Amino acid sequence: MSFPAIALLTWYDRHRRDLPWRAGPGETADPYHVWLSEIMLQQTTVAATIPYYERFLIRFPTMQALAAAPLEDVLAAWAGLGYYARARNLHACARAVVMAGGFPRDLAGLRALPGIGGYTAAAIGAIAFGVPAVPVDGNVERVVARLFAVGEELPAAKPSLHSLAARLGDDPAAQARPSDFAQALFDLGATVCTPAAPACGLCPWMTACAGRRAGIAAELPRRSAKRVPPLRHGVHFWLTDAEGNVLLRRRPPEGLLGGMTELPGTDWRLAPWTAAEALPLAPMPAGWHPAGQVRHGFTHFELTIDLFAARVARIDAPGFARPVSALVHEALPSVMRKCVHMAAGARPA
Ligand code: ADE
Repeated sequence: MSFPAIALLTWYDRHRRDLPWRAGPGETADPYHVWLSEIMLQQTTVAATIPYYERFLIRFPTMQALAAAPLEDVLAAWAGLGYYARARNLHACARAVVMAGGFPRDLAGLRALPGIGGYTAAAIGAIAFGVPAVPVDGNVERVVARLFAVGEELPAAKPSLHSLAARLGDDPAAQARPSDFAQALFDLGATVCTPAAPACGLCPWMTACAGRRAGIAAELPRRSAKRVPPLRHGVHFWLTDAEGNVLLRRRPPEGLLGGMTELPGTDWRLAPWTAAEALPLAPMPAGWHPAGQVRHGFTHFELTIDLFAARVARIDAPGFARPVSALVHEALPSVMRKCVHMAAGARPA
């Protein structure tokens, strides 16, 4: 089977997507833009990433501006994108790169930076610095599984898919244009070799694709059966005062949603909470009443939150109070935005 890089590159020259972090044909990519977009795209779709990317660049136009900003501001700009360790690492990486006077231009140097693993190093290396590497994300895994009709299930199939992807990149035409080759694979996966109903008739590698020839392209890649995530339960408290402030607190810097802002609440445990158990844990005694339920999916568990609300003349409890109207400036993760929306009946952003 042969998949000439020139066929893909020719297709890309005609059909490439116009994305805000992408350099135009013949232009050099800005490493800051490439790095930022790759970190955002790690767990987020292109469509969801674009508005965050654009707002982020207005707020932090350069690596220097990002490095100089307080972590809380970076977390606030990231709020809603999820996987907040990415934002903490982003900030640490910006500081390291500014200290070093710029990005390393090789894969090992890139990998040594906070938040940059094998995939991201290959993507930045190829797109920003022309390193002949093939970054393999979920889209590229799917394309390769189909091209070579790999029937082995993910995640066990990863090593085979990675070496097959590297084989595609060995073609001298790919080595001559590593940035375009990497992005062409992304675009092929996103627009032609899509998860459901791939548009095989539009694919530059259609005739050689083993998955298409065997009539199984749409079924690939195969995945081992997913485990059902456990359901956890928490109770959070919406405590407002006479001046329209609400009580908040900051999560510990490490761990899930580290450093983000939240409404005070219980831990998130497997057993449901009764009101009799949860209310003694409220920030202060008050006329607490139920204010709705929120559900949110995390990577490894589902969460239901029972909300209780109360209004007091003056908040006297650990944490910090902010005007409800200013919550847009807080680093509220999506689960807490849902809580605010439910309790206040208004979205903070
Ligand atoms: N997915 C991951 N990185 C990407 C990029 N640079 N362009 C488009 N999709 C991507």
